Amino acid sequence: MSVLKPVILKIGGSVITDKKGELAARTQEMSRLVEEIRKASVQNLIIVHGGGSFGHPVAQKYAIKEGFKEENQKIGFAETHHVMTVLNGLFMDALIWNNVSAVSITPSSCVITKKGRIQRFEENPLIMLLRMGFLPVMYGDAVFDTDLGFTILSGDQLVSYIATRLNAERIIIGVDVDGLYDADPKGETNAKLFAHLTLKELKALQNRLGEPTACDVTGGMFGKIAELIPAIEQGISATIVNATKPNYIYKALKGEKVEGTLIEKE
Ligand SMILES: Nc1ncnc2c1ncn2[C@@H]1O[C@H](COP(=O)(O)OP(=O)(O)OP(=O)(O)O)[C@@H](O)[C@H]1O
Ligand SMILES: [Mg+2]
Repeated sequence: MSVLKPVILKIGGSVITDKKGELAARTQEMSRLVEEIRKASVQNLIIVHGGGSFGHPVAQKYAIKEGFKEENQKIGFAETHHVMTVLNGLFMDALIWNNVSAVSITPSSCVITKKGRIQRFEENPLIMLLRMGFLPVMYGDAVFDTDLGFTILSGDQLVSYIATRLNAERIIIGVDVDGLYDADPKGETNAKLFAHLTLKELKALQNRLGEPTACDVTGGMFGKIAELIPAIEQGISATIVNATKPNYIYKALKGEKVEGTLIEKE
């Protein structure tokens, strides 16, 4: 089954939750974002959201990403998946009560990874949703893994996988900072924002991006960039924007000029 080139929007857990808290949802931010998404009315949009202070702390506590090693991790796997469905539910509430025909697809039920990388993805429901004009919503989740038993699938890996698989038109990544800097802007007050990067420049920069400060079991900004590379290689552009700033996501969705980092193959 084929569909028109979709636009993939990642809404960071850093935006819809407070990553310094635990289970700290930002429901007002969700409503504002949904309003922007509705107003932009992009055809063939797919949303993926992150885990923020829902998924990451529980996954970290039980070392879910490292795989199944002992019985007491099982409650951790169950809890990680559950809190993600709760966060997803809050986001879906915001969408549906704003009259957006959004339907969530649970990654743990349609994705199998092998050593943490997506091996199988039952994509037909996603494609059917797009074809019928629904807005599919996916998220980072605890998933089953052929070698590890289970692991964590980041929203960032999903974004890149779906984008390359469906040959997306472009990727938009919403985070809580203004884009990609030469150092973490939360630690380095003099960090410099990149407005535009080519794939070559991005790769050169990659090993200078440090470990995440906030709790993020999927590698924070470093992990995000590493995941993005295959999509950029395929010629799909990615824009990293500050989704906490009103109308930035709206402008990015409309293809209007907006402050942030545009990453392109050339
Ligand atoms: N070089 C950098 N440029 C920009 N941000 C950086 C950089 N290095 C680290 N960061 C940090 O990365 C964070 C965004 O990544 P993080 O994984 O925490 O959020 P997210 O992906 O939105 O959340 P989630 O994984 O829950 O979806 C920013 O809050 C910023 O502090
Ligand atoms: Mg992250």
